[in-house]
Amino acid sequence: KRRAAVLISGRGSNLGALIAAARHPAYPAELALVLSNRADAAGLDRAREAGIPAEVVESRPFGRDRAGFEAALGARLEAAGIGLVVLAGFMRVLTEGFVAAWAGRMINIHPSLLPAFPGLDTHARALAAGVRLHGCTVHFVTPGVDEGPIIAQAAVPVLPGDDEAALAARVLAQEHRIFPAALAWAASGAARLEGGRVVLDAPMAGGALA
Ligand code: GAR
Repeated sequence: KRRAAVLISGRGSNLGALIAAARHPAYPAELALVLSNRADAAGLDRAREAGIPAEVVESRPFGRDRAGFEAALGARLEAAGIGLVVLAGFMRVLTEGFVAAWAGRMINIHPSLLPAFPGLDTHARALAAGVRLHGCTVHFVTPGVDEGPIIAQAAVPVLPGDDEAALAARVLAQEHRIFPAALAWAASGAARLEGGRVVLDAPMAGGALA
């Protein structure tokens, strides 16, 4: 099994979905470590309840020294023998150097149908734009924020009367479905980065998990 580390900053509901999936004996990734850049992340408790080593590497003391923070992060990943990094609501932008070191071995979930709505406040922006379909994306991480090659996506309708919370909840339910699938594909090599594009051997629906 590939040893995966899940990086979080908060609630950790996606981490919860990954933990549930990884309980299956045939799941190709072992969640060997959870790292949070915030000591108050609720996801840390989820990890500990599941018996997964959970550590805090606080980003705040490093201030603008992103490379310093990432050196601390990288040391923890190396010490734990991690082969795959999973960003699950990790709200720090990583430097090009760190991203390059993990090229093809780091995935992220983003709450929009990329390339629409990279960045923050995706649900409010989707509502403001009047799109009829919204959703979520799992992608390999590249230096451009939310720009990496796409592994899996799921779409949801935007319904009349939706507010940000209602739409976020509809998307989040899909995040919890596609993230465990995408991690399994990345861990098994069924999804891999070749020449800057994703090659997908996964049998189901070419990565569209609606
Ligand atoms: C999720 O919706 C995830 O897609 C988003 O943060 C939320 C974390 O929720 N990630 C980003 O916005 C990344 N820029 P969770 O902590 O309950 O998994």
